[in-house]
Amino acid sequence: MTPNPRAPHHVAIIMDGNGRWAQLRGRPRLLGHHAGARRVKEIVRACPDLGVKYLTIFAFSTENWKRTQSEVAGLMRLFKRYIRREAHDLKAENVRVRFIGDRVKLEPALVDLMDGLELATAENTGTNLTIALNYGGRDEVTRAARRLAHDVKLGKLDPRQICDETFPRYLDTYVLPDPDLVIRTSGEARISNFLLWQSAYAEYEFIDTLWPDFSAQIFAEVLVRYGLRDRRFGAVKA
Ligand code: IPE
Ligand code: IPE
Ligand code: MG
Repeated sequence: MTPNPRAPHHVAIIMDGNGRWAQLRGRPRLLGHHAGARRVKEIVRACPDLGVKYLTIFAFSTENWKRTQSEVAGLMRLFKRYIRREAHDLKAENVRVRFIGDRVKLEPALVDLMDGLELATAENTGTNLTIALNYGGRDEVTRAARRLAHDVKLGKLDPRQICDETFPRYLDTYVLPDPDLVIRTSGEARISNFLLWQSAYAEYEFIDTLWPDFSAQIFAEVLVRYGLRDRRFGAVKA
């Protein structure tokens, strides 16, 4: 496949609709989450051919703790299993994995696996896969503000230096470019607290497909549509 010169450099995906996918089949919601996890592999593998260098996926939000204890526990087990099972292939396929979100509330066994995967893939130079786990945009911005205030208090930062270039250095995403395209599956047209600061100028695609049905083919079609968009960033075209 010839790489698309107008491909988005960074795509962020709100992977929604796992529960409904399972319910439509009369199955427990967790089964939908397992089906969704299988799709992640296909989409990550499609990135190099499609010209996508950064892929960020929303796996668990700071609001998802409101779900039943059994769904939350099942999701945490799934994340651990996913990391154990996929670590080898991700490393071999040159994928660099990072996690964003607040790790403090996560169980130590999961945090260890996350740290291990980041370390094991730190030298990889292919697709940059970022997994948002216990992530919330408002939570990220407030944690950043807290760290920044601390640096001011210690005299490391002069408040007059704070601008839209210095502030993002305190965000979880400090090494990542801003997303060019945010995709949400399942037909919901909202961003549910995802990458609030970073997506200020992103393009959005709200797709009716439920996440477990989101194929590499559909992904490729969305990217073609993105290539036809005119991004102006507030300017007027010459
Ligand atoms: C997205 O699917 C996965 C997570 C939020 C963990 P949902 O579980 O939100 O699926 P629906 O929206 O209920 O169908
Ligand atoms: C957003 O989906 C979070 C993830 C995909 C992880 P939700 O299903 O939690 O969002 P709402 O509740 O529909 O806004
Ligand atoms: Mg949902």
